[in-house]
Parts: sequence; structure tokens; C-alpha cells
Amino acid sequence: LFMQGGAIGENAIVPMNLLGAKTSIDFINTGEWSKKSMKEAKRYAKVNVAASDEANGFTGIPARNTWKLDADAAYVHICSNETIGGVEYHFTPDVGAVPLVADMSSNILSRPVDVARYGLIYGGAQKNIGPAGLTIVIVRDDLLGHAMPLCPSAFNYAEQAENDSMLNTPPTYGIYIAGLVFNWIKAQGGLVAMEAHNRAKAAVLYDYLDESRFFSNPIARDARSLMNVPFKLKDANLDAEFLKGAQARGMVQLKGHRSVGGMRASIYNAMPVEGVKALVAYMKEFEVRHG
Ligand SMILES: Cc1ncc(COP(=O)(O)O)c(C=O)c1O
Repeated sequence: LFMQGGAIGENAIVPMNLLGAKTSIDFINTGEWSKKSMKEAKRYAKVNVAASDEANGFTGIPARNTWKLDADAAYVHICSNETIGGVEYHFTPDVGAVPLVADMSSNILSRPVDVARYGLIYGGAQKNIGPAGLTIVIVRDDLLGHAMPLCPSAFNYAEQAENDSMLNTPPTYGIYIAGLVFNWIKAQGGLVAMEAHNRAKAAVLYDYLDESRFFSNPIARDARSLMNVPFKLKDANLDAEFLKGAQARGMVQLKGHRSVGGMRASIYNAMPVEGVKALVAYMKEFEVRHG
């Protein structure tokens, strides 16, 4: 479905459509975006935090065998890539018969995904797909048709599906650009090629972070994001100088989110490996000067 309202909108639209006769939803809390999803879902359902990495400062994905899932939950919600924290699932969790729902806003189309293992996938288009204003939802047919009576028609998945996502005027320009991006990805060799590209790119940065004694990344190795790489300088007093030097070299938006501090390199599909190499060259120079 091509929807509107962004991923934040979907945080409400998903429960409105999927709760049905159930009363609770299981959430895996891996960071800021999980928390935002839970906050919104609380308006519609009982939120059960089945697992959380909060006590570890959101530096990994809680091991699957620690999740306390409720067999009667409407669905299990995960955020497949925590954009702010830089934590990504590198596996698809098995949650049995309960549908798995994923906010894939920031890693959709970065690598192949076995869509059939999910009940629903959603995401804002603005990272790997196209312009802001378009929201993508992939939903299993049998999950359609259970919307709450108060759910607006424009946000009712069954009604949108019946109308080929044109129940109301769709964001046509965003959909057009998304089509160009889909063709571009195909021309690159599809998602298998995107994954190879993204792995090679992220490795340039993580390899340097691991060898550096000045810069560091706190995320567990098996949960490191290929899209968003947070890192810290040894001395936070140098953050402003680092950002100024980066900007002078044409590298912008490196400041980390205020909830985690430090820096964050967002290296979505469109970022070429040369961009990451330029960042690492600058970081090495900075380390020699200040390390
Ligand atoms: C993982 C994740 N979820 C949700 C959102 C919110 O998306 P939107 O701004 O489209 O509502 C973002 C945006 O950055 C995100 O990265």
C-alpha cells in the first residue's frame, strides 16, 4: 500500500487495523523508535514489553530466547533498524503464529528480506525509497478487514487495498520518484547487490572505529546497523571542532541525536563508498591531531 502520514502515523494506524478482537500487543524495545511506537500504541491497546535492551543503554538486540511473548497478543512489534541508536536486526525473529510487525523505515531496501515471514512491514519512504510524504505498508491479506470502526477510511488498510491505494489522492510525485528509485536499485543488481554495497561501505567505518583509540562505537557486533553508525570521540569537548571540520569538507548532518550524543553517520543506499572513505580519512587526520 502507498499511504500517507509517515511511520509515526503508522504507529497508530497499525494498531487501529490489526488489533481486532485482541487487547494487547507485544513490543521489543530496542531504542527511541521502539519507544515512540509503544507510546502511540498505548492509546489503543495494552502494551506488553516482551523484551527490552534499555538496561544496557540500547546497545544490542535482546536474545530471542529471553523474549516473554504472549500467545494471545495481536502482534509482535519490532523496529528492524533503530535509526538513532544504530542497532539493527540481522535475523528475522520467529514469533510463532502471532504476526510479526516491523518498522523498517530506515533499513528497507538495504538488503533482501523474506517478506513472507512478516505480517506487516511499514516505513516512511524518505531514507531508501524516495521523498518524504510517502509511506509504504506491506500487509498480509488475511490481516485486512479487522479495522476498528473509528479508523479513518484513508487509514483503513482494507479500504486502501480495495482502491489500489487511491481511496484518496495519493502522493503522486513521491510514488513517481519511488518508481525511479526501484528501477535504479534493479539496475544496480537488486537487493543482493545493495546488501554487498552496504556491507562493504559500513565495514570501512566500523573497521576504523574498532582500531581507533580515539573514536568508538558502543553497539554489539551482531547488532550493528549498516545504515546508521553512531560514534563517540574520546573527549566530547572536541565534538564542536570535529563537526566544524567535517562541514568544511562538505560532510554535514553528522551530529548524533541528543538522546545519545556524539556523532552519527547515516549511510543509506544512496551514499557511495567514497563518502564513507572521505569521512574515515578526515577522522584519521583528526585523531592524529588530537589523539
Ligand atoms: C525507524 C523510524 N521509525 C519512524 C520514523 C518516523 O518516520 P516519519 O517521520 O515518516 O513519521 C523514523 C524517522 O526518522 C525512523 O527512522
